[in-house]
Amino acid sequence: MAKVSRVSIAFLLPVACAALLSLGACSSEPGPMRIAGGDPQLGRELIQRYGCVACHAIPGLSSYGANVGPPLHRMGERAYVGGVIANTPDNLVAWLQNPAAIDPRTAMPRLGISEREARHIAAYLVKPH
Ligand code: HEC
Repeated sequence: MAKVSRVSIAFLLPVACAALLSLGACSSEPGPMRIAGGDPQLGRELIQRYGCVACHAIPGLSSYGANVGPPLHRMGERAYVGGVIANTPDNLVAWLQNPAAIDPRTAMPRLGISEREARHIAAYLVKPH
């Protein structure tokens, strides 16, 4: 009996996976990062209001020469935030609100950004540009 169920699992797993693959599950390719509750257009306005371009080159915004922090291109594909934590939606939003809570030695200041604002900003940053 145990032998039979092992065999059927060995047979059924690839079949089930193939079925899921056609639905986009099982895929090893990560999809684009999504920020729940984030509106990229509002994010763009907030980025301008908070003056992020004083320190960062940001796609779609005039920030020529800004080079205090890293350029924020392709933020949705970056592996780490601040070089210290995995770049997940929650971690990126947390970073924007309070960078020093994540890396006490970071030079990025806390700008008084709310969680809701951070979600909008993150949505703009991870959007393919
Ligand atoms: C005074 C300069 C300064 C300002 C203003 C500033 N940052 Fe930063 N930021 C930095 C620095 C420096 C780093 C690199 C921090 C580190 O690696 O410890 C950084 C890192 C980041 C990162 C992580 C990038 C990565 O590749 O890990 C993001 C995202 C980010 N900033 C977004 C923003 C946004 C959005 C704003 C505006 C709301 C902003 N920053 C305002 C200096 C600044």
